[in-house]
Amino acid sequence: MKALVTGGAGFIGSTLVDRLLAEGHAVDAVDDLSTGSLANLAEARAGRGAGTDFTFHRLDIRSDQVVDLIARRRPEVVYHLAAQADVRVSVDRPAFDAEVNIVGALKVLEGARLAGARKVVFASSGGTIYGTVGPDDLPVRESHPQRPESPYGVAKKAVGDYLFAYRQLHELEFTALALANVYGPRQDPHGEAGVVSIFAGRLLAGEACTIYGDGEQTRDFVFVDDVVDAFVRGAERGGGLLVNIGTGTETSVNDLYRSIAREAGVEQPAAYAPARPGELARSALDPGRAAIHLGWKPWTTLDEGCRATLDWFRS
Ligand SMILES: NC(=O)c1ccc[n+]([C@@H]2O[C@H](COP(=O)([O-])OP(=O)(O)OC[C@H]3O[C@@H](n4cnc5c(N)ncnc54)[C@H](O)[C@@H]3O)[C@@H](O)[C@H]2O)c1
Repeated sequence: MKALVTGGAGFIGSTLVDRLLAEGHAVDAVDDLSTGSLANLAEARAGRGAGTDFTFHRLDIRSDQVVDLIARRRPEVVYHLAAQADVRVSVDRPAFDAEVNIVGALKVLEGARLAGARKVVFASSGGTIYGTVGPDDLPVRESHPQRPESPYGVAKKAVGDYLFAYRQLHELEFTALALANVYGPRQDPHGEAGVVSIFAGRLLAGEACTIYGDGEQTRDFVFVDDVVDAFVRGAERGGGLLVNIGTGTETSVNDLYRSIAREAGVEQPAAYAPARPGELARSALDPGRAAIHLGWKPWTTLDEGCRATLDWFRS
């Protein structure tokens, strides 16, 4: 298969590129390297995987060139992961966020349409599109109303609507994956689940970690390899659907800290600072639809995932 991955130099995108190459697919990666890095693509570019058919294109998805490129390269499947992925940046610069996350997504969709691609698999955000979810609705299902409370979440929701419109108008099939808090090797300490890499990096450097608020806020931490597996499945299944990709389990930041500290062999407790405004109190995604429609289940435990992340930081 010929695949194109936007955001291919990023944390999740580069992990997806490696997996697709290992399966023998031909892969184009598009990225402007604004937060991603070529270091993440070292293996892909060296042709060390099973597949060697890899091309990197340094391009901004806001540019018209990206439409031409996708139309010309004619991928069968477009994985759209490029994004301004920082919620706080979206609050400070909502127009910039919309340019990248809405207008950029439209350019990618136009390219996919002109290329005659059979499918777009999109990285949406389960932690933001639903907004505040009442305790009775946790873990949240895809049928829950979408009331995003950040410009980033609004953009992810809007792209979900555009995907539906493109399916109706142009018969371009899609699957939108509502990702929980993804963590693992290659993650930069920014973005939605950066807390795992922040804790891992600081604990290994012998530095103290700060928890904002009382640490009892919960998140649904899902390991990057499991998430990439959902993207691969999304190329064949789950057409026309929004699908949650999470564990369904709430983990408090306190428990997360304890897990990483134990794996790192550190006994020092975390420091506490005032809660950050606008932070969700609780978050978890019901992965039931993913099991039915993608045959997907997360298989990496939090301890295993933290260990793998720490190993990557050590090396
Ligand atoms: N990490 C998470 O927990 C999480 C959760 C929900 C959704 N997501 C989504 O998954 C996707 C990948 O996120 P990630 O965590 O790997 O973040 P990341 O920042 O590592 O990856 C995003 C990539 O997009 C690239 N990019 C940004 N703006 C671009 C532009 N204008 N043109 C071309 N490339 C551009 C960046 O350089 C980067 O390589 C994003 O769409 C993000 O919103 C991530």
